[in-house]
Amino acid sequence: MMSEPLVLGIETSCDETGVGIVRGATLLADEVASSVDEHARFGGVVPEIASRAHLEAMVPTIERACAVAKVKLSNIDAIAVTGGPGLVGALIVGTSSAKALALALGIPVFAVNHLAGHIVVDELEHGPLPDSVIGLLVSGGHSSLIQLTGSDFRALGATLDDAAGEAFDKVARLLGLPFPGGPWIDQIAQSGDENAIAFPRGLTAAHEGAANRLNFSFSGLKTAVARWVKQQQQAGNGVSVPDVAASFQEAVVDVLTQKAFAACQDTGIEHLVIGGGVAANSRLRARALERAASIGVSVRIPRPGLCTDNGAMIAALGSRLLMRGATPSDLSFSTTSVLPIETVVLDELD
Ligand code: KG4
Ligand code: ZN
Repeated sequence: MMSEPLVLGIETSCDETGVGIVRGATLLADEVASSVDEHARFGGVVPEIASRAHLEAMVPTIERACAVAKVKLSNIDAIAVTGGPGLVGALIVGTSSAKALALALGIPVFAVNHLAGHIVVDELEHGPLPDSVIGLLVSGGHSSLIQLTGSDFRALGATLDDAAGEAFDKVARLLGLPFPGGPWIDQIAQSGDENAIAFPRGLTAAHEGAANRLNFSFSGLKTAVARWVKQQQQAGNGVSVPDVAASFQEAVVDVLTQKAFAACQDTGIEHLVIGGGVAANSRLRARALERAASIGVSVRIPRPGLCTDNGAMIAALGSRLLMRGATPSDLSFSTTSVLPIETVVLDELD
């Protein structure tokens, strides 16, 4: 296979229309059109609104990406597109566009796993990943620990209920902050005391068992924050939003870092990469880097713009697959709201 392919990646799993272009592992363009403002008043992403926004944004975003990368569509060697997991209506807009491009240009298409994209995107910023690496994937829809060895992704653990980003968004809503709440909590927590309130650290107690050592649970934490706020209000006490935000964030970060390093310890893998929207969190980044230095594990975290959903991560994954000789998707591929990390390409012929 060619050594440095030009790959266009399309991401439409949620509310960001992302189009990225890479040559090999070099980022040439990363254009994102977000419909987040259209969802804000509903307090969450409305699938129908997201789908229509993707349809409107798709062609202009592709055109912008080609202009920024200074390439013509006719020069593209392969298309990569998010096949799942995500909102099916939203995914259909991206995959239909990808199929049309692949048909018109006569080039292969890789319908790829969004979660794997969140991990390998770091190659665009920090170079090739080590042969074996632990991935901590923390986004609005997922929280998982993943082992990537060569081309194989394997789930080591996942959340049993809410995703980390979902917990940030729900707690933010409770505190009267706008959607999506993660960035707001991050900012407001900077003026709060992270030790002000002792919120629970889900699935970290010894009695919760070895089976859940690498699993997460954030719904109890969310409920604990809600209960605490209500109790204070009923008692006529003021609620310090910065203190609640900082204490909540600390509980999430404690659990994420503890379990990520436990996965390194259990597998003997000394490299950790963190991806997904919550990886943009300043406290998580600082704590992970600090802890890593003290125990001799290397930690890589892409810059915040590459952590949240984007097309570059999909292009990066497509390019990596192409260079490793993976089989492209058959053009009849479908989309799926649920996709285990082990399936990196839809309709891959094993
Ligand atoms: O990966 P992403 O862009 O979309 C999904 O695939 O879900 O992640 C979005 C999530 C949202 O829940 C958002 O609140 C959270 O990432 N997020 C953050 C920060 N920036 C985005 N959470 C905490 N701190 C941040 N700075
Ligand atoms: Zn994502």
